[in-house]
Amino acid sequence: MKKKIALVKGDGIGPEVVNEGIKILRTIEEHTDYEFEFKEAPMGGEIWKKCGESLPQSSFEIMKQSDTILFGAVGLPDIPQGVAEKAILRVRQDLDLYVNLRPVKLYPSLHDMCPLKTEIVKNGIDISIFRENTESVYAQIGGVVNQETAVNSMVYTRKGVSRIIEYAFEYCKKNNLGELISVDKANVLAVSQFWRKIFQSIGQKYPKIKQTNYYVDAFCQWLIRDPSSIQTVVTENMFGDIVSDEAAYLVGSLGMAASGNINPNGVSMYEPIHGSAPDIAGQGIANPIGTILSVKMMFEESFQDAPIGKFIDKAVEYSLESMRTTDIYSKFAQKDVNIKRVNCKEMGNDVLKQLKSILKN
Ligand SMILES: NC(=O)c1ccc[n+]([C@@H]2O[C@H](COP(=O)([O-])OP(=O)(O)OC[C@H]3O[C@@H](n4cnc5c(N)ncnc54)[C@H](O)[C@@H]3O)[C@@H](O)[C@H]2O)c1
Repeated sequence: MKKKIALVKGDGIGPEVVNEGIKILRTIEEHTDYEFEFKEAPMGGEIWKKCGESLPQSSFEIMKQSDTILFGAVGLPDIPQGVAEKAILRVRQDLDLYVNLRPVKLYPSLHDMCPLKTEIVKNGIDISIFRENTESVYAQIGGVVNQETAVNSMVYTRKGVSRIIEYAFEYCKKNNLGELISVDKANVLAVSQFWRKIFQSIGQKYPKIKQTNYYVDAFCQWLIRDPSSIQTVVTENMFGDIVSDEAAYLVGSLGMAASGNINPNGVSMYEPIHGSAPDIAGQGIANPIGTILSVKMMFEESFQDAPIGKFIDKAVEYSLESMRTTDIYSKFAQKDVNIKRVNCKEMGNDVLKQLKSILKN
C-alpha cells in the first residue's frame, strides 16, 4: 500500500518529535506492505523568517497532494503574534479539517503523573473528545469597534454542526461505545440550543447509543470529579479547545497527547497537541509520545488500520513501564530504580524496539 505523507516539522521541538514519528513509520514499512513517500512541507516561524510567508503555496500544494500529513508544531517567540496561527487556521479551513479528535488516555504506569487522587483514577482514563474545528468564534467574524467595543460572532451552520455530530455517533457505533456526551451552553446561548436540537435529531438514528447533554461548566467539573465514567464527547470549537486542554493535563504532560484534524473525505493532519516549546527546543529532551500517538491515529483514522494502531499503543505502554522523558519523570519515578530518565531519541528508540518485537510476533 503506497501512501504519500507530507511532513510539516515546523518550529522549536517540532522537528525533534516528528523525526521520532518518522522512525515509527519506517519500521512499519519494514515489517508490513506499506510503502511511504515522504515530502517535507515547511510551515511556521522559521520559514516565515526566510521568505516572509508562514505557509508558502509550495508547502500547501505538497499537503493537498498527500494522503495524509504529520505535523509537529509551529510558533516562535521572536515572530509577530498571529503569523503561525494564521497558517494553522488556513490549513484547517482550506482542507476542511472539520473533525478534531483528541484522545485522552492515562497509561497504567503513569498514574503518579495524574494530578487527581488515586482513588478517582483507579479505573483509568480513556476519553475521545470530538471538537468541531472550523466554525464558532474561530470563524473570525468580528473585531474591535472604535477602540471601545470588541465583538466575535459564534457562527454555527446546520451543515457544520450535523457533520461533526454524525462523525462522533458513527465513531461510537464503529467502536461499540455505549454513550455520546454532547457539551454545550444551551441554558444561555441560542447557538447551543440550535446545536442541541440537531444532536437530538441525529441521535434518533442511533437508539442504541445513550445520549447525554452537559452544560460546558458542569462538564468541566465532571471531568475532574469522575473522568473514568466519560468515554466519548462531542462539542463545538471553543468549548472543545478548552475542555480538551483540561483533559490533556489529566494524563501527565502536554507531551503525551495526540490529535487528529480530520476530513473524512480528504487529506487529514495528525499532530501532538503541544506547541513548539521554545523553552526546551534544541536540548533533545522533548517527549515524542504525543507525536508517536499521532502516527497511531493516522493508521486508525486515515488508513482504517486499527490493528497497527493497537500495536503502536502497546509499544508505548510497554516503553513507559521502564523509562520516561523529563516532563513525566516525577518524584515517584525517581524513587523507582527500574524507571530511567531518557531523552527524546532514547524514548523514541525504545518505542521502536517494542514495536519491532510486536510486529515480528
Ligand atoms: N499546534 C501548534 O503548532 C501549537 C499549539 C500550541 C502552541 N503553539 C505555539 O507554540 C509556542 C509555545 O507555546 P506554549 O509555550 O504556550 O505551549 P507549548 O505546548 O509549546 O509548551 C508549554 C509547556 O509544555 C512543555 N512541553 C510542551 N511540549 C512538550 C513535550 N513534547 N515534551 C516536554 N515538554 C513539553 C514546554 O516545555 C512548556 O513548558 C507559541 O508560539 C504557540 O503559539 C503551537
